[in-house]
Amino acid sequence: GGSDASDGKRVLLAAPRGYCAGVDRAVVTVEKALDLYGPPVYVRKQIVHNKHVVTTLEKRGAIFVDETEQVPEGATVIFSAHGVAPVVHDEAKALSLKTIDATCPLVTKVHREARRFAGDDFDILLIGHDGHEEVIGTAGEAPENIVLVESPDHVDTIEVRDPDRVVWLSQTTLSVDETMETVRRLRERFPKLQDPPSDDICYATQNRQLAVKQMAPDTDLMIVVGSRNSSNSVRLVEVALEHGARDGHLVDYADEIDESWLDGVTTVGVTSGASVPEVLVRDVLDFLAQRGYTDVASVTAAEESLLFALPTELRRDLKARG
Ligand code: F3S
Repeated sequence: GGSDASDGKRVLLAAPRGYCAGVDRAVVTVEKALDLYGPPVYVRKQIVHNKHVVTTLEKRGAIFVDETEQVPEGATVIFSAHGVAPVVHDEAKALSLKTIDATCPLVTKVHREARRFAGDDFDILLIGHDGHEEVIGTAGEAPENIVLVESPDHVDTIEVRDPDRVVWLSQTTLSVDETMETVRRLRERFPKLQDPPSDDICYATQNRQLAVKQMAPDTDLMIVVGSRNSSNSVRLVEVALEHGARDGHLVDYADEIDESWLDGVTTVGVTSGASVPEVLVRDVLDFLAQRGYTDVASVTAAEESLLFALPTELRRDLKARG
């Protein structure tokens, strides 16, 4: 078909998108560990939930394992950005592993909150997805006190020991709106419900959702770059559809875009999850440009400048070896 400027095809590109401070730190941690100690370096679980990142690091000599016991005795292991339960530190100690903890500091903050409220004998209503690594890690801080709340509807059936001693915490990568709805219903059931001392849903999750909300009403098709197991990426597709995008899809790579999605589409929205390298977004923009979507406008919902220092263990070794 005709693909001159007159058919109005355009791209709205979300900002912020892609890497958050916690992902950047975790990926650089593995890269620097490979440089410093040489391959292989073991990583427990996917360092971040992105296929391309994991494949690329594997090629450089990272070995991803699911369980601590798969790491040879005395080797170096990196814990992923999603965090680990205290028992995992014990397992590593038992195997004399050298550990580097790449847990995002904003996840560590939630762990601290969980320990503190458990210490005060609260039941902790943890809003999150059953089986997600971050939830397993946070719950592991206080297994006796944690009650998982998976959705607004789930609120009706949960049980607590003392309705006057309850606090809610959450996974960092949830839908902001759905979480607020869950909290509203929790408070209906437990009027004494305490709030976390600060937002558990992190700044990166919030900002990426905000940008998508701004774009969605004008968008015929929203393409979110991200992996299926990436919670924050999956939420971006949901948020787009809830806020008026006519269609929306999650893709790991540009070549997963089905040409038929573009039928009759004037405006394509593009964004990416917090674990997604920018090169994958560039590939999607190239794919779209080849099909006439050359007019690209940014939609900026927030400015981000947060940076986290590398894990202490790694910084110490980097310094020692000059
Ligand atoms: Fe951390 Fe949020 Fe990224 S918790 S890893 S900054 S998505």
